[in-house]
Amino acid sequence: MTTPQDPLTLPCGTVLPNRLLKGAMSEGLGTSDGAPRPELGALYGRWAESGIGLLITGNVMIDAYALGEPGNVVLENDRHLAEFHDWAVRGQRSHTQVWMQLNHPGKQAPRGLNRETVAPSAVPFEGSFGRAFDPPRELTVAEIHDLTWRFATAAGLAKRAGFGGVQIHAAHGYLHSQFLSPKHNIRTDDYGGSPENRRRFLLETFAAVRAAVGPRFPVSVKLNSSDFVRGGLSEEESLDVVQALGAAGCDLIEISGGTYEKPMMMIGQGERGGFFAAFSQQARNISGAPIGVTGGFRDLSTIREALQSGAADMVGLGRPLVLDPDFAGRVLRGEPVSSEVGPIQTGVKALDQSSSFETLWHEDALRRIARGQQVNPDENMVLALLRIAGRTGLKALMEKRRA
Ligand SMILES: Cc1cc2nc3c(=O)[nH]c(=O)nc-3n(C[C@H](O)[C@H](O)[C@H](O)COP(=O)(O)O)c2cc1C
Repeated sequence: MTTPQDPLTLPCGTVLPNRLLKGAMSEGLGTSDGAPRPELGALYGRWAESGIGLLITGNVMIDAYALGEPGNVVLENDRHLAEFHDWAVRGQRSHTQVWMQLNHPGKQAPRGLNRETVAPSAVPFEGSFGRAFDPPRELTVAEIHDLTWRFATAAGLAKRAGFGGVQIHAAHGYLHSQFLSPKHNIRTDDYGGSPENRRRFLLETFAAVRAAVGPRFPVSVKLNSSDFVRGGLSEEESLDVVQALGAAGCDLIEISGGTYEKPMMMIGQGERGGFFAAFSQQARNISGAPIGVTGGFRDLSTIREALQSGAADMVGLGRPLVLDPDFAGRVLRGEPVSSEVGPIQTGVKALDQSSSFETLWHEDALRRIARGQQVNPDENMVLALLRIAGRTGLKALMEKRRA
């Protein structure tokens, strides 16, 4: 029977010291030219003190012209390798590993942030929601190949900088997730039109990343169980992707779900346990790769249950580690912990429904931890809103990413 304290040997041979991982949470701690700020080392060092097995970084962009939000860290050449090295070293105290999440937003980037918006197909987001995003241009096949190469280049650089592994972000509606979605990918060439073609970009990216880092270096993928929108990636098709990634030699598939259109990764469906534990169990039954599941884990018994029942090989934690950077340490010590994560409500309907303030509040809290300050989940949210709006500007706040 698996417990949170058990080590996990990955297909590449790497051994993770236990079954807890920190899911990626974008920190917005990049400089104006995309270098990691020194606070990132402090933040990851703080989490490493808890003894957690794996820290997955917030998404790092593979192209400076394709940001997901202001303040993104970017890795496309060796210009800032010393700063990346500092981040990796300070986060990898004792046996904790730090893996870098690599991402391209596709069309899910706030309007005006990038000089151009690209996607698998020229399909804009619908209705009032679409007003926050520029309509995209369809990528050419040559550009798809170039993006594959960019993911691989960034992965090779992450390895050189001292990170313990990499994760390709194929969840939450960003570029890879757009390719997997029949709603957003209506191409008729080799990259669309059938489930096999829709997952070609992801599998080619995986193969290119693997070639860049070699067989002994962990390569993970974060994948949606489903997009939870009509015409999006279905559970059935997602399971086929799980199988294909396992056959390709993926070291860890981290299950999540939802996109900006339906931010299920942040809210789930009111489950008692983790948001995606039932799907994760199905994935694990057919997968050749270890499975992690992230979203909604709040207490010791639910975490234990997911591991004991075989729903997952690893449990991922996000917001509980923001409210308490030692949450994982307490789970590992067997303390009967229960996280206070609750909806962060401002009273401003547009913000509360989109869960964008929820993300912003936690991102702000990450910066506080990095500076050694206290995080107070009971603070007055109107004052928090004013504080954060003062820093980001109200317009940016309304257009903020969901996760
Ligand atoms: C502030 C914040 C930023 C996030 N950024 C990312 C990200 O960069 N990449 C990603 O895959 N998920 C991101 N997420 C989603 C988390 O990884 C996780 O899936 C989600 O918070 C659900 O887990 P939880 O219920 O334990 O918080 C973010 C979540 C938060 C709160």
